[in-house]
Amino acid sequence: MTTSMAKQDAEGSSLNGASKRSSSDRGLIEIDDVKVVYGDKTGSHTAVDSTTITIKPREFVCLLGPSGCGKSTLLSAIAGFVEPSDGTVKLDGELIDGPGPDRGMVFQQYSLLPWKTIYQNIEMGPRLANDIEASKTANSFLEMVGLSKYRDHYPVQLSGGMQQRVGIARALATYPSVMLMDEPFGALDAQTRLVMQENLLSIWNEFGTTVVFVTHDVDEAVFLSDRILVMSASPGRIIADLKNDVPRPRLQSMSTREDFTKLKLKCLEVIRAESMRAFEMQNT
Ligand SMILES: Nc1ncnc2c1ncn2[C@@H]1O[C@H](COP(=O)(O)OP(=O)(O)OP(=O)(O)O)[C@@H](O)[C@H]1O
Ligand SMILES: [Mg+2]
Repeated sequence: MTTSMAKQDAEGSSLNGASKRSSSDRGLIEIDDVKVVYGDKTGSHTAVDSTTITIKPREFVCLLGPSGCGKSTLLSAIAGFVEPSDGTVKLDGELIDGPGPDRGMVFQQYSLLPWKTIYQNIEMGPRLANDIEASKTANSFLEMVGLSKYRDHYPVQLSGGMQQRVGIARALATYPSVMLMDEPFGALDAQTRLVMQENLLSIWNEFGTTVVFVTHDVDEAVFLSDRILVMSASPGRIIADLKNDVPRPRLQSMSTREDFTKLKLKCLEVIRAESMRAFEMQNT
């Protein structure tokens, strides 16, 4: 990624028009009283319960919560991979009833196709979505994530951080109104992770998509988000909805600011209280 990419307040577009089709009025997510129950012959498990959230277009929301509380399940319901047992999920007023190119997914494991080049991995989405400029689109997004030089390499030839940048480019290449990111930097080393966080904010600032970002890392949530939602232990419900007023553009050096540490402590307090509650429930 180029140095200018890492500047969230970069002037103008450096993306060869990659962001030209992004729109500030798309990406409204409405989750209304959603419940997700997994079940088979051996029994059932309520993964998410009584969840109502509205996420505004362009909002960057981080989802925090203990392992197994239903974060990935909630993301999957927005992605359309999982159908709610109760309640509804809407995107821009339309009921979500399956996956679609309007929602880009980025997972912890980069899940690139190993037999395809970096370019082919990115170009496939727009081509399948009948983008008549699929090739141009793929090249624009390759440039956006600073990997034009690696166009004809295979995933295995790239570092973890580079592969995740390809994953982000691939997710964006269908011009989604929403990016759903499930611990996307969880497999990266601490240093690469910080760089990727800045890069993501830079891309988000330019591209203007709604982001729902799952993480276990409270610092990451405070650094990235406009708003932090904390989920309870299983079955997952939203137990805190915290506005993040740390000013943008964000810099890693801001992590010692009073508003940053205050929000971080608030998150930790909610998570701690919830962990204690879950622990007590397991013992009674
Ligand atoms: N396909 C599935 N079938 C049955 N149960 C599932 C399925 N997917 C998830 N679960 C269960 O639903 C609950 C929530 O899982 P989920 O993966 O959403 O949690 P999570 O918050 O993302 O956890 P982690 O932080 O560990 O990734 C867990 O108890 C899990 O075992
Ligand atoms: Mg998960």
